[in-house]
Amino acid sequence: MVQLTLPQNSKVRKNGKIYKAPQGAAKTRTFKVYRYDPSTDDNPRVDHYEVDVSNVSMVLDGLIKIKNEIDPSLSFRRSCREGVCGSCSFNINGANTLACTKSLDDLGSGDITVYPLPHQPVLKDLVTDLTNFYEQHAYIEPFLKAKEDEPETEWKQSQEDRAKLDGLYECILCACCSTSCPSYWWNGEKEGGEEEYLGPAALLQSYRWLSDSRDQYTNERLDNLEDEFKLYRCHTIMNCTQVCPKHLNPAKAIAEVKKMMVNRPVDRTGKAKDTSK
Ligand code: SF4
Ligand code: SF4
Ligand code: FES
Repeated sequence: MVQLTLPQNSKVRKNGKIYKAPQGAAKTRTFKVYRYDPSTDDNPRVDHYEVDVSNVSMVLDGLIKIKNEIDPSLSFRRSCREGVCGSCSFNINGANTLACTKSLDDLGSGDITVYPLPHQPVLKDLVTDLTNFYEQHAYIEPFLKAKEDEPETEWKQSQEDRAKLDGLYECILCACCSTSCPSYWWNGEKEGGEEEYLGPAALLQSYRWLSDSRDQYTNERLDNLEDEFKLYRCHTIMNCTQVCPKHLNPAKAIAEVKKMMVNRPVDRTGKAKDTSK
């Protein structure tokens, strides 16, 4: 359950290192970057890097420049550099987003702070442990499940039904939404092996499969969300939708799942009827 005070070893100490801009730098911006090294007993610190940004347009480019030219010990994840892989998500100037699609110009002219995604265990510097996040994604069974035998060719879908997946399938699992959700901070961790609140990313994906005309496990999927925590800990705070770098709307998807839950037929005992498509 929620821990309202920071553990002693996670408090940021004041004496971060300062790396001055190289002589003759044409245009500098200061990157204030969270540093934590699990191989020492030291608390985290924030290092200040004055970076020549004459040829830097995105925050990720700045971090790569720091790693390549100033401090190779800085750790962070990145891969595609195109907003597709979802691995460079950090908390930048107080908001979760992708470093590769966030331009320095978007951040005004002041310093740039880069912290790990909030409320996740930090492995090193900006690298967080997303095991629980991925387990929650696995929990919703993100794949087509059918009761009929496989067709000889492909599962057919009309253009109208395919269009229902727009705004859902584009999720890149960057975790910006879930780790910005206060309810996820407080209720997102498993207790005694039981899933708690699944969070907006997993629930958006759950709705993606609930909306798929080819999937035949709608009722079972809803059954698997039916308790006090997995779905109903969303309180429509909307942080998730505000931060999603792919402009998706997890809060709306969650509301749609709640509607499906309320509208599904029940038998005389109050149990949900099997409404397999
Ligand atoms: S709308 Fe729901 S999922 Fe989104 S931030 Fe709020 S509580 Fe979290
Ligand atoms: S819904 Fe948006 S913010 Fe959330 S994991 Fe998917 S792409 Fe990232
Ligand atoms: S590096 Fe892939 S999304 Fe940023």
